[in-house]
Amino acid sequence: MAERPRVFVTRSLPGDGLSRLAAATRCRIWPGSAPPTPEALAREAGDCEGLLCLLTDRIDEALLAVAPRLRVISSCSVGVDHIDLEAATARGIPIGFTPGVLVETTADLAFALLLAAARRVVEGDRFVRGGQWTPDRRWEPDLLLGRDLHGATLGLVGLGTIGRAVARRASGFGMRILGWTRSGRAVDGVESAELDRVLAESDFVSVHLAYTPETRNLLDARALGLMKPGAILVNTARGGIVDESALAAALRSGALAAAGLDVFEREPLAPESPLLALDNVVLLPHIGSASITTRARMADLAVDNLLAGLAGRPLLHCANHPPP
Ligand code: DGY
Repeated sequence: MAERPRVFVTRSLPGDGLSRLAAATRCRIWPGSAPPTPEALAREAGDCEGLLCLLTDRIDEALLAVAPRLRVISSCSVGVDHIDLEAATARGIPIGFTPGVLVETTADLAFALLLAAARRVVEGDRFVRGGQWTPDRRWEPDLLLGRDLHGATLGLVGLGTIGRAVARRASGFGMRILGWTRSGRAVDGVESAELDRVLAESDFVSVHLAYTPETRNLLDARALGLMKPGAILVNTARGGIVDESALAAALRSGALAAAGLDVFEREPLAPESPLLALDNVVLLPHIGSASITTRARMADLAVDNLLAGLAGRPLLHCANHPPP
């Protein structure tokens, strides 16, 4: 009987996907709660045929060079910007990823951020906990006034599966929806428009694009400057799509009313980030897909991709175009 393939998993994952992997392979799971360092990753993956990684692991040419037996890499994420796809493809290594299963959960979080930023939910929580809600401030006509979602215009930057799932929610809230996508594809219930028009006409803008060299800093100072005075920006995609310093300046000056951010140029957010000093930003630690059910589904799909690759079958979801 052929030996079971060696596999390295860079973190323990929720659900029971990893028990299936352990039954089919000789698998080592990184024991730490922090990601392995690049050196540890190189050491652990060095003799493996399969690698199951997360978006916190950098998979580059240097790693591939020291892991010559790798036949498949599976990332437990929909984003693959942490992986050098070209280098993997050149080595004939298929890259698995986990689209689909996290769409609705991520759209829920984008909507939570829209509501939280619009209605100043976190500021209100701080107000109560900070002891500011005192008998002489029992109810004030102008306390923490926010903005309505209903009747407002939502601009979607990106109309992939997550952008469309946010559009469905927005239509239930009675919003007008504008959307831009590079392909110009028509989406039911969404008026398609050029990016500049989406930015200029929307009260809320929500970003739903993959992070690629083309989308890096797409929302730079010029683009943010096109947004309506007092508009609100939400980003649950990747931090590098928005110029963070330009965003902080727009929030500080009041050009933008607020933002809701789950993703940042650098994660974790640096203690010196100007965003931390602003009350009108809701900050989350990259938890868009973090529901119990969805994280277990992502782990399951990542395991399925890995097992398919190890068995020489096409991956269920392969990020290389075309698959090697
Ligand atoms: C992803 O999968 O790429 C998300 O950013 C986290 O779930």
